[in-house]
Amino acid sequence: MKQMIIRSLLDAYYHEGRYVSGALLSEQLGVTRAAISKAIQQLVVNGYPIESQKHHGYRLTKLPSQLSEPLISRSLQAEGALRFAQSVHWQPSVDSTNLVARRGADAGEPPFSLYLADEQTSGRGRRGRIWHSAAGGGVWFSLLLKPDVQPDQLASITLFAGLSMAAALRSLTALDVQLKWPNDLVVLPAGRKLGGILTETVLEENRVSAVVIGIGINITTEEFPDELNAIATSLAIESVRTGSKVPTRLDVLLACLSEFEQRWTDWLAGTVAEKSSSSQSQDLPAWIQDYRAICATLGRDVQIISASGQTLFAKAIDLSAGGDLIVRLADGTQQTISAGEVSVRGLLGYV
Ligand code: BTN
Repeated sequence: MKQMIIRSLLDAYYHEGRYVSGALLSEQLGVTRAAISKAIQQLVVNGYPIESQKHHGYRLTKLPSQLSEPLISRSLQAEGALRFAQSVHWQPSVDSTNLVARRGADAGEPPFSLYLADEQTSGRGRRGRIWHSAAGGGVWFSLLLKPDVQPDQLASITLFAGLSMAAALRSLTALDVQLKWPNDLVVLPAGRKLGGILTETVLEENRVSAVVIGIGINITTEEFPDELNAIATSLAIESVRTGSKVPTRLDVLLACLSEFEQRWTDWLAGTVAEKSSSSQSQDLPAWIQDYRAICATLGRDVQIISASGQTLFAKAIDLSAGGDLIVRLADGTQQTISAGEVSVRGLLGYV
């Protein structure tokens, strides 16, 4: 019943903050007005900003800070991110939203399903690392997509997701959020890591049946485990440095998902076009050009470490149409490096 009350209050909130009468709620939900009043009191105790006004009813005075399925889906709808608004799965605590999304894929959930949690007990990073995902410390979410593409066209999807997240964070804050190729969100000038992306592909008989894109962005976390303290950051830490306001988790989520949704058809079109074009820079899809403009790796001396531990020193010079990194070695020759095959480290600091 509480979820339905929240849904009605949110509908009214997005209709110029109108009140919902107790009589209407009791009729809609088939319960007494006393039951409605009791449920509202409990919601207020739980921190929901609800105002009661005699003869008018109830209204939200602002959006609640607690994330919930009705809040996320109604707000996505208001934001115009209509595809993601359809199938929102929010839980207070899960092992990993990527794992929940993969289970969703196995259960036949539709594309654009969104899986989120306040806390992850086994948050996963790239290369088998742990992703620290304390309750309320940031946004931890996974997107289930089913693009009609070949496995070799998927290398760029993580870069594209990273670009959408970086663009969202740049529009929400005054921070110089950039991308450490391929998929780390970093904040310059210090170049500390603000977020990361873990993409997993579900293949069936060599066909892409689903893609899960897991995204973690640190928002309120102020302290990281010792081994991460020198390289990790959050919007709260950066806001102390810049004296700016920290956006809410809902603001971050909405901005990220609407950027992603708005750019999605461009990515699909660019990925398909890339198959039939050369990788000359004038042919680069628009999204790669956007990525290039905020790629902190380009122009830097980097160390490239292969899965087998082999190390190469080079200068990162450009990106290919498919999102591979083009580097120049000390002998002047160029090499193209695919995301997923290597790890890239800056020679001065994390970027
Ligand atoms: C990385 O930079 O190593 C990738 C981090 C990805 C973290 C996100 S949080 C939501 C989703 N669920 C997970 O278990 N991991 C991703």
